[in-house]
Formats: sequence, structure tokens, C-alpha cells
Amino acid sequence: MNYPNFTVISHPLIEHKLTFIRDLTTPKKGFKELVDEVAMLMAYEITKDFPLEEVEIETPICKTKTRIVSGKKVVLVPILRAGLGMVDGILKLIPSARVGHIGLYRDHETLQPVSYYFKIPPQSEDRDFILIDPMLATGGSAIAAVDKLKEVGVKNIKFMCLIAAPEGVKAFCEAHPDVKVFAAGLDEKLNENGYIVPGLGDAGDRLFGTK
Ligand code: URA
Repeated sequence: MNYPNFTVISHPLIEHKLTFIRDLTTPKKGFKELVDEVAMLMAYEITKDFPLEEVEIETPICKTKTRIVSGKKVVLVPILRAGLGMVDGILKLIPSARVGHIGLYRDHETLQPVSYYFKIPPQSEDRDFILIDPMLATGGSAIAAVDKLKEVGVKNIKFMCLIAAPEGVKAFCEAHPDVKVFAAGLDEKLNENGYIVPGLGDAGDRLFGTK
């Protein structure tokens, strides 16, 4: 899809692992492990523009100048509940990241997402945020979550998902052209029940064994 802020992260390991994530015979334990592994591989790619700063350290041999990631700690924000399933994998790579949470439900009458929980670290205005939800379906929740983050002054936001539907990519990229979106796979469409086709089913149910 031709949106400058949308990227499918293409890597043989990601594609391989995503196949087993999609497979309905993959048990809960393996599903969670694979989701974490793909989240970690994606995070490696998503953070490649992080700025570095020079520091001086001493090795057992001599003093040397080298570089570390500069700036404030990253904030990961899973959208409850399925977004939680990707956090551990990213924390393996960025253990100092802070973790905020956003809970959204869909109002039955207006069909609009309503926020029921919102907690992010203080002084978030100039931190780098990574919003997380495994499925970008209609885009409603992700758009509302970014609206909410922007409302409180957050400026640097990236959004990552495992699987995106074209409908969700269009809605999200048009609503928030300044937010980069990263997916491990782009699927065909949404079905009449709002599931991504071929997708992986209900990500929350598969992560938490609630079906
Ligand atoms: N949410 C899911 O968990 N799966 C889909 O296919 C769409 C939305």
C-alpha cells in the first residue's frame, strides 16, 4: 500500500514465524513465544533511526570513546488487551523502556472507541513512543489511541502491529500521516465480522487462551 508512513518489515525470519503464528494448530505457549520473537525482531528494525551520543568508557585495556543510544527512555504503549502480548519481546531488546497502557472499548451506540484506562509516564512530551497492537483491522482503536497520546502532548509516536488489513492502513495513515506504521504482514481484507483475512483469528483470545 502506498502510504509513505506505512512499512511492512520484510525479513525471512519474521515471515517464517508469522506463518506459525497464523496456524490455528499452534498451541497457546508457542503462539505467545512466537509473538514475542516477532515483536523483538520488529523492534530491532523500528529503532534503527534512534540517535546515538558519544560517551567515554574504560575497557580492561584502555580508555575509549564509544556510543550509546541518547535521549529519554522509550515508552511502549500496548493497547489492551492484545497489545500486552508483544511487550515482553520488545523489553528483551530495550529493557529500560517504560510501559504505559491504553484501554479502549467500542461504544455500542456511537460505535466509537472510548478510552477507559490511560496511564503513561510523566514528562512524556519528548519521549519516543511505540504504540502496540497486534492487529490493525479497522484502525479505530489505533487512531483513537494516537489521538489520546497527542492530546496529552506526545509528539514522537510509532505504531507497530503484526498484521494489518488494507482498510486499517488507509484509515490510520490518513488520520495520522505523521505516525510511522510498521507491520509484519499486510493481509487481503476484513471480513463481515471485522476479522482480518487470512489473519490469525482473535489475537487476544489466542494469547490468553480465552476461547
Ligand atoms: N482483532 C483481532 O484480534 N483479530 C482480527 O482479525 C481483527 C481484530
